[in-house]
Amino acid sequence: MKILVTGGLGYIGSHTAIELSKDYETVIVDNLINSNISTLKGINKIGFSKIIFEKLDLCNLNDVKSLFKKHPNIEGVIHFAALKNVSESVKDPLSYYQNNIISLLNLLSEINERKMKINFIFSSSCAVYGQSENLPISENEIKKPALSPYGNTKQICEDILTDFSKINSKFNVVSLRYFNPIGAHESGEIGELPKEEPQNLVPYITQSAAKIRGKLTIFGNNYNTPDGTCIRDYIHVVDLAKAHTCALNYLLDNKGVNNEFFNIGTGKGNSVLEIINSFEKVTGKKVVYKIGPRRPGDITAAYADNEKALKYLHWKPNYSLEDALLSAWNWEKNYRKT
Ligand code: NAD
Ligand code: UFG
Repeated sequence: MKILVTGGLGYIGSHTAIELSKDYETVIVDNLINSNISTLKGINKIGFSKIIFEKLDLCNLNDVKSLFKKHPNIEGVIHFAALKNVSESVKDPLSYYQNNIISLLNLLSEINERKMKINFIFSSSCAVYGQSENLPISENEIKKPALSPYGNTKQICEDILTDFSKINSKFNVVSLRYFNPIGAHESGEIGELPKEEPQNLVPYITQSAAKIRGKLTIFGNNYNTPDGTCIRDYIHVVDLAKAHTCALNYLLDNKGVNNEFFNIGTGKGNSVLEIINSFEKVTGKKVVYKIGPRRPGDITAAYADNEKALKYLHWKPNYSLEDALLSAWNWEKNYRKT
């Protein structure tokens, strides 16, 4: 069975492509807007079968048409391709709406036109919940207005998929709402490789420890949490990648899935200071930090109620926080050396 992985040279897509290559013929498409072609080398080194790569922009409908013409036997799509920088989306909302929505619409219009039978997995985010008062957050939580254009694109794309699946019985879809992926493949061949200065906590920590960056700034220590810093649900990216193969099996076993939502997180929350302390403990590296002001748009705490994924996807996270932090550091060290 042939599976299309859009944005497959990115952080989560590359780890998922490795998992898929155990059982499926895998085709990656990416326009490299936020990834590096060197990732393909890493993927092919550790993949279980040869992975096909097509460089194209999903916002170009002709490119999407040519893709499906070349690979008419695609039966599954995992749609990672998107822009994902929350603060950039506030400064440049049009690029985010343009890229994240047009790319999905182009895929769906081709699937529709070709009357393809497709199992589709969408990369959604816990950003769709906004600031939830209930913790852990369950899928039944009423969606609040998104806190950023990025978060809004995820809400809009979920709605587009629900509406499309209702009128197309050959289109089976789930949306996975990721919490905070961190870490890297155990080989150290692929990992998180932001093109610009990292916006996320763990890549900033590893780059700061590797002396590529200066001091880490903790964005606020006056939140209503035990140590004053924000709480998130940090999940090893390989566990997250495995959730996609479980979701694919779920779609293959069930017909008429009109966009089922699943939280993908560990169910545990850790504060920024706890992450720093654990990183120092497992790596022996000191993280130099200062306390700065709150980052606009940050929520105080978010962690997943993951019971639905455990029960219906037959998935469970296996790695600990310490495993994830150590793998992130091993990747950083390996990458900087090469
Ligand atoms: P990433 O930026 O590393 O990967 C996305 C990939 O998509 C990149 O390689 C980029 O070049 C490609 N891409 C973007 N627009 C494209 C287009 N128009 N055509 C072709 N390729 C395009 O991001 P990631 O962390 O791997 O995230 C993957 C998905 O998961 C995204 O949809 C993101 O919004 C979502 N998500 C990520 C997180 C996170 O913390 N990393 C959390 C929740 C949801
Ligand atoms: N943080 C710092 N300093 C930094 C970076 C982050 O203190 O240099 C703090 C943040 O304030 C936050 C925590 O570390 O309290 C985690 O921040 P991240 O940026 O790593 O993650 P977010 O929870 O803000 O957002 C991430 C992705 C979004 C996604 C969201 C939910 O960046 O794309 O998870 O899935 F929508």
